[in-house]
Amino acid sequence: MAAVPVAPKLMHAVQYNCYGGGASGLKHVSTPIPAPKRDEVCLKLEAASLNPSDWKVQKGILWPVFPGKFPHIPVNDVAGEIIEVGQGVKKFKAGDKVVALLNLFNGGGLAEFSVASERLTVARPPEVSAAESAGLPIAGLTALQALTQAANIKLDGSGQQKNILITAASGGVGHYAVQLAKLGNTHVTATCGARNIELVKSLGADESPSGRKFDAVIHCASAGIPWSTFEPNLSAEGKVIDISVTPSALLTLVLNTITVSKKQLVPLLMNAEAENLEYLVKLVKEGKLKTVIDSKYALSKAEDAWAKSIDGHATGKIIVEP
Ligand SMILES: NC(=O)c1ccc[n+]([C@@H]2O[C@H](COP(=O)([O-])OP(=O)(O)OC[C@H]3O[C@@H](n4cnc5c(N)ncnc54)[C@H](OP(=O)(O)O)[C@@H]3O)[C@@H](O)[C@H]2O)c1
Repeated sequence: MAAVPVAPKLMHAVQYNCYGGGASGLKHVSTPIPAPKRDEVCLKLEAASLNPSDWKVQKGILWPVFPGKFPHIPVNDVAGEIIEVGQGVKKFKAGDKVVALLNLFNGGGLAEFSVASERLTVARPPEVSAAESAGLPIAGLTALQALTQAANIKLDGSGQQKNILITAASGGVGHYAVQLAKLGNTHVTATCGARNIELVKSLGADESPSGRKFDAVIHCASAGIPWSTFEPNLSAEGKVIDISVTPSALLTLVLNTITVSKKQLVPLLMNAEAENLEYLVKLVKEGKLKTVIDSKYALSKAEDAWAKSIDGHATGKIIVEP
């Protein structure tokens, strides 16, 4: 007797079918719940957070490599509960609450369910809400990497005091960078729009500039600021860590390499490590780091969240909840 095919279980997801289109390019669909591969877990999502990379990929900034294929369910930062694990998964079981960075090629976060690799999934303790943990992966890991690897700041407070400038300090990356920088031995000057000055101070930014030149600038503003603006304000071996990686930044990098200047422009691309994400979750649990939530949107209103992110003036993180 032939087996009766079982209809796949369906979920609500939001996807786009081609490059371009912005918020109106997003389509609400009913699509099969993804099944985890051997080293993956399937999550019932509780929260996802948007990053500028989500809509930049839709615009075609990484054409033709990203997204991996169309239709594409975007968004990579998620928190949820594991409902199924692949055969090779060791660390997790159904029922575990987790935060994950989804495969950058495949996305999948604007949906009720998604699959995540075990490697970039970490446990979420009950003290840390789904929304605040969903903010962490891309923005938090970028801020952490900029400070600890590129600017060489030790977050245990050891080492000589460093004088830091953080631009766009109220944005997704910037608001984590201010808080993390203050765990180290730093004096933090921050730039932000006037409406966010009190918030940024409350995150730890120092009241007045130190009067010294900057040892490091964590440059989070996507608006290009020319090297000539930063250069006179840098200490002898000062660095500008640029997370927006524009063509002019790369040209400055080349020019600095062929001159004798010890001042450097350092383009940074986030490289995700689970242990760093675990560290960020631990800081949130201990009350040493918080996710400022700009706004929350139901999945049914994902296009409004998308438009808000494209607008470029969120204070903290934009969250979508299925
Ligand atoms: N290299 C990497 O691996 C990596 C990782 C993450 C993010 N990024 C990039 O880093 C940038 C920031 O990301 P994000 O998540 O922090 O973005 P975001 O949450 O959208 O924050 C944007 C910030 O930029 C500020 N801003 C907007 N227009 C500005 C202008 N003309 N001049 C100065 N500041 C301005 C906003 O402040 P106001 O509201 O006051 O205008 C806001 O604080 C994006 O370009 C993103 O693609 C790169």
